[in-house]
Amino acid sequence: MKESNGGERRPIGHIAFIMDGNGRWAKQRGLPREHGHRFGVKAFERILEHCRDLGIGTVTVYAFSTENWKRPQKEVDAIMKLMDRYLAECEKNMDRYRFRFVFLGDKSVFDTERRQRMERLERTTADHERILNIAFNYGGRDEIVHACNRLIAAGVECVDEATFASALYTASSADPDLIIRTGGDLRISNFLLWQAAYAELYFTDKLWPDFGPDDLDEAIEDFYTRKRRYGGV
Ligand code: IPE
Ligand code: IPE
Ligand code: MG
Repeated sequence: MKESNGGERRPIGHIAFIMDGNGRWAKQRGLPREHGHRFGVKAFERILEHCRDLGIGTVTVYAFSTENWKRPQKEVDAIMKLMDRYLAECEKNMDRYRFRFVFLGDKSVFDTERRQRMERLERTTADHERILNIAFNYGGRDEIVHACNRLIAAGVECVDEATFASALYTASSADPDLIIRTGGDLRISNFLLWQAAYAELYFTDKLWPDFGPDDLDEAIEDFYTRKRRYGGV
């Protein structure tokens, strides 16, 4: 396959997903919002598998934001329970996709058991080549402030871009090439504020539980039509 500029088409290095629309998906079916999240996990697993098949090196998913704590307790509890179930499942099945797990966000708010599970998964998959970043209790502004405080605590007095990037939760990943948001809203909602500087943005009305491999292929086709200039000509 050829790129629009005639060059060989290489797999995209890093795709990030704002997995939005679970609540509306459930509402459309007369179901409680929590059901949407349950089907959202299934959609995520299908997409992750497809990303692996396409040879995508880094996948990032926005699963829970620093602002999502504002939701009704019942919904927050349901999302936490889904995460716990997913963590347990991954521990049993670690080699399934051979991704290295990285959790983006402040883990200190979670109870010891959840935090230890996350850290254990990060440790035991650390030698896997492909990266799966799961943004959970993640906010772009929170990440930037956290990075500043880390650097201050380390006694750094002056930073350049590379040093700053190394203090972010995403230190192990290159910047995203493509950010896909489902659910029809045209905004970033505090996701990867620093890292998105030159990402290509793709928005679709599809609600996340309905977003499948064909939709991802379509987004990727669109990506290959873009001319990335990075400020040049
Ligand atoms: C995204 O779906 C998942 C999370 C934010 C946890 P939403 O729950 O925001 O679904 P909508 O946008 O209300 O439909
Ligand atoms: C963004 O979706 C966060 C996640 C997908 C985890 P939201 O539903 O929280 O975003 P807003 O509130 O529509 O901006
Ligand atoms: Mg939403």
